Amino acid sequence: MRFFKFGVIRCPESFSSYEAHCVPMIGWLEGKVAIVTGAASGIGAAAVKTFVENGAFVVIADVNDELGHQFATSIGLDKVSYHHCDVRDEKQVEETVAFALEKYGTLDIMFSNAGIADPMSSILEFNLNEFDNTMAVNVRGSAATIKHAARVMVERKIRGSIICTASIAGSIAGSGGHDYVTSKHGVIGLVRSTCGELGAYGIRVNSISPFVIATPLACQSLNMEVSEIEATGNDSAVLKGITLKTTHIAEAALFLASDESAYISGHNLVVDGGFSVINSCVPSITK
Ligand SMILES: NC(=O)c1ccc[n+]([C@@H]2O[C@H](COP(=O)([O-])OP(=O)(O)OC[C@H]3O[C@@H](n4cnc5c(N)ncnc54)[C@H](O)[C@@H]3O)[C@@H](O)[C@H]2O)c1
Repeated sequence: MRFFKFGVIRCPESFSSYEAHCVPMIGWLEGKVAIVTGAASGIGAAAVKTFVENGAFVVIADVNDELGHQFATSIGLDKVSYHHCDVRDEKQVEETVAFALEKYGTLDIMFSNAGIADPMSSILEFNLNEFDNTMAVNVRGSAATIKHAARVMVERKIRGSIICTASIAGSIAGSGGHDYVTSKHGVIGLVRSTCGELGAYGIRVNSISPFVIATPLACQSLNMEVSEIEATGNDSAVLKGITLKTTHIAEAALFLASDESAYISGHNLVVDGGFSVINSCVPSITK
């Protein structure tokens, strides 16, 4: 039996008080097993909560052991486990996949979400060591997670779902530093390339590209407080009356992880309220 998302969308007198009350989606991942990388914080942590609410068992994979253990305990160790995993190290990724198999017996979903973003810097002063590190986490890390998740899915004939967190910076420049923009273009390329090969085994590979969200990553790279990032994001957003939160990305990940998206592969699900398809230099016709 399926439970669909439903709710009441209220648009009262004032547009600014737009509210959406939604009953949580329940049961979309009943009994499935997922690994989420970069899961101790931000988007990854929101995805863990949403996946668990929908019946999944989740391995929280991260480099921040203290936060990861705390978070796992707060969710409940009957539903989640923490496992240290630096996605730059292929061996640790392989061990994390092995851990999930040993603990839960299978692997249906890999959410490759770990990422970093350095403060923006000029190409004239570009630090290539930082560039290498960004590529190692964001692109190499995604390649390692796709590789090791796909290996077990192919071997065990699991029609799995692999999702990578890209960014609007993966499609348009100017929304991150040179290294970040390059790395996220790489993630989208990797998803498109691997979905071709893995489609033969019934494995789907997709990406999600969020607009700016006030997570620790964004606060550090933009050197702004949460409130400043949200105000700036809302100001430049095309879709007004709503602030993008990690839960919106978690719901997109839930959709791509679930059988509700059974024929969707190679897709880059952009969650930006239309930001990346509008030329903001052209004056809006909205009064
Ligand atoms: N926040 C945004 O505005 C935004 C927008 C678009 C895309 N993204 C992407 O979303 C993803 C999640 O970022 P977030 O915004 O939730 O940030 P966050 O800082 O809240 O979370 C990132 C997590 O990744 C972990 N991590 C860092 N390096 C790692 C490594 N080598 N191995 C494993 N884990 C590692 C961190 O410990 C942290 O828990 C990233 O891929 C990021 O590029 C974020």
